[in-house]
Amino acid sequence: MMPLPVTVEEVGGAPVAGDGGLAFRQSGCRDPRVEEAFSRFLSRVESFSGTPVSTVAGERPLPVAVECEKGGGSLPALGDDEAYDLSVSSSGVAIRAASPVGAIRAFATLYQLVEGAPSGFQIRLARVTDRPRFPWRGLLVDSSRHFMPIPVLKRTLDAMDVVKLNVLHWHLSDDQGFRVASRAFPRLHRAGSDGLFYSGDEVREIVDYARRRGIRVVPEFDVPGHTTAWFVGYPELASEAGPYRIERKFGIFDPAMDPGKREVYAFLDGLVGEMAGLFPDEYFHVGGDEVNGKAWGRSASVRAFQAERNLPDGGALQAAFTSRLQRILSAHGKKMIGWDEVLHGNLDRDVVVQSYRWHRKLVEAASRGNPSILSSGYYLDLMFSAAWHYGVDPLGEEAATLPPEKRSLVLGGEACMWTEFATAENIDAKIWPRAAAIAERLWSPASTRSVEEMYRRLALVSVKLEAAGTTHLQSRARMIRRLAGPGPATRSVEILSEALEPVKEYARVESGRYTSETPLTRLVDLLHPESEVARLFMLDVDALMAPDAAGNGSAPAQQRVARMLELWRDNDEFVQDAAQGNPLLLEAAAASTTLAACARIGLEALHRVAPPGDRKVWKTDATSLLEKASLPRNEVVIAVASAIRRLVERTEEKSALVGTAREP
Ligand code: ACM
Repeated sequence: MMPLPVTVEEVGGAPVAGDGGLAFRQSGCRDPRVEEAFSRFLSRVESFSGTPVSTVAGERPLPVAVECEKGGGSLPALGDDEAYDLSVSSSGVAIRAASPVGAIRAFATLYQLVEGAPSGFQIRLARVTDRPRFPWRGLLVDSSRHFMPIPVLKRTLDAMDVVKLNVLHWHLSDDQGFRVASRAFPRLHRAGSDGLFYSGDEVREIVDYARRRGIRVVPEFDVPGHTTAWFVGYPELASEAGPYRIERKFGIFDPAMDPGKREVYAFLDGLVGEMAGLFPDEYFHVGGDEVNGKAWGRSASVRAFQAERNLPDGGALQAAFTSRLQRILSAHGKKMIGWDEVLHGNLDRDVVVQSYRWHRKLVEAASRGNPSILSSGYYLDLMFSAAWHYGVDPLGEEAATLPPEKRSLVLGGEACMWTEFATAENIDAKIWPRAAAIAERLWSPASTRSVEEMYRRLALVSVKLEAAGTTHLQSRARMIRRLAGPGPATRSVEILSEALEPVKEYARVESGRYTSETPLTRLVDLLHPESEVARLFMLDVDALMAPDAAGNGSAPAQQRVARMLELWRDNDEFVQDAAQGNPLLLEAAAASTTLAACARIGLEALHRVAPPGDRKVWKTDATSLLEKASLPRNEVVIAVASAIRRLVERTEEKSALVGTAREP
C-alpha cells in the first residue's frame, strides 16, 4: 500500500474472494460521493479481474458497509477530517470515517488491497487505522508551458485519488500562455493562448471532478512577473510599452506588471472577481515568483512611484503590490497563497507561503506566523529519483527546530510538474509513479522511511495507478514505436531505453535549444525519469558483491547481472541495424553503442577476464569510459553505468586471474 497507513494489522487468513459480488451499504452521512467512490473502486477492480463484478444478486455478495459520522460540506476544504478505519475480513468490508472524504480515502486503500485471483479478484484481509500527517498534499500541473487537455487532468485527478493527494494546484498562466477563458478580459485567452485554453464549462467540469474525489483545486494566476502572455492582449498592464508576443522560450523573463498603476489593480480586481466565481476553493494562488526587477528599473513611472512611496528596492515594490493584491483577494472572499517571494514584513497572517527555496523559506514564513507548504525537493521536472524526493520532509532540516506552535503552521507540500518538457503524451511518465512516493511522505507517519520498502510498494502502486487510468507505463512504448516503426526494432529500442535516463536538473532549459513549439518526441522525451532496470540491476550488483553468512555472493544475482550485461551487449546489433536508414534512431544508436561498451566492460569485470595487457591499465580505461557514459550525450545518460563501475571497482588491480582467456 502507498501511502502506507498509520497502522496496518495483517489479519491472518486467506484473502476474501470477491467473485460472489459486492453489496454496498451506507449509513450515517448520506453523501453521493461515497457511493461514487465505491463505483470507482468497482470499475478499477473489474479492470484487474477481467470480469464484471456483480453489485446486486451475486450468490454470496460480500457486504461493503460504510459508516460515516458527519456530512460536512460537499466542497473539500483545508482541514477536512480524512481519517478512516477499514476492516477487511472474511465476512466483509467495513469502513468507518469521520467524513465523506475519509470514506473516499478508505476506498483508495481498499483498492490497494485488491489482487487478481483465478476466480476474478480477492481482497487481502487487514485492519487499517489511518489519518494524514499533513492536511495539504498537492500536485502542481503547469498548463501554460504546454497546454494539458481535459483528459490529462482527469486521469491525473484519478491517480491523485489513488494515492490520497488532495490539492490540484493548477498553474494557469505564465509567459507562454494564459489558459482560461475570461469574459471580462477576453483578449487574455484570445491573444495570449494560441487558442489553447479552458472554457468556463471545462474549468467547472474539472473542479467538480476533483470535488467528487475529495480534491481541492487551487488556481494559480502568476503575477506580477511571468505575465508576458497577459500583455499580448493588454500591454497597458506592463511596466514597459509593448508590443508583446507570447513567449516561446523558457526561463525567467523581464516583463512585469506595473505596480504603480491604478488600472492594474482595477484589472486584477475584475479578473479575481470573475475567477473566484469559477474556482470555489478558499485559496487563490497569485504566484509572485522570479520578478527580476529589470523592467521596473527601466520604467520612469515605476521609479517615480517607488520614490513617492519610499520603496527602496524591488523587494519593497513587490511587497506593496502583494499587499494591495491581498486586499483584492480578501474582498472576493479568497485567502492568498503565493511563492515564497510574497513573504514580506507585514504580510497578512492568513497568507500561505509556498517555499521553492528550501526549508529556510518555510521556517521564515512559519516564524512570522504564516502557514507554509514545501515544494523544493518535490520538483518532478528535475528528473530525480523517487528516493531523493522521498528523503525530503517538510519538517526536516531547519524546520525540525521550529517550536511546536510554529511547526503546526507547516501544512504540507506539493509536488510540482512544470511542463517545459512535458506534453499530454509523456506527462504521466514524469509524474507517476514518483509522485506516489511524495504522497507517502506527506500522508504517512514521519517514521515511514525505508527506501527499499518504498520501492517495493511503489512498483505495485505503479500498476494500480495505470489500471486507474494513467498512461505512464504505456506511453514509452507508443513513443518508441513512432521512432522505430513496425517490427522487432521496437523491442530493441525498448531494451535500450530501459537502461537510460534523461539528463537531470535544468540542463535542457539552460541549453537554450528549446521553445514551446519544439516537438518533444526524441529519445530523451520518452525515457522514464528514473530507470527501474538500473535500480534493480544495482541491487543485484550489490547482492553479488556482498557475501552472505556462508561467505558466498548471491549466485542468482550473479546470473541476473550476467544476463543483463549480455542482453545490452547483444542488443546493440539490432539497434544499429534498425538505425540504418532511419535518422529518427540516430540518438538511440549512439546510446546503444555506449551501453554495449559498458556492458562488455561489465562482463570482463564479472568474469575477471583480463584482456591482453596490464590489469591496472584496463581498470583505468574502463573507469574512464563508464564515467563518460554517465555524462549526458544527446541529453541521455547510461543509467546502468554506475552499477557497472561498482563491478569494475571491486576487481583487484593485481588480479589472480591475469592470463585467463575464458570467454564470458
Ligand atoms: C518557481 O519555481 N519559479 C516557483
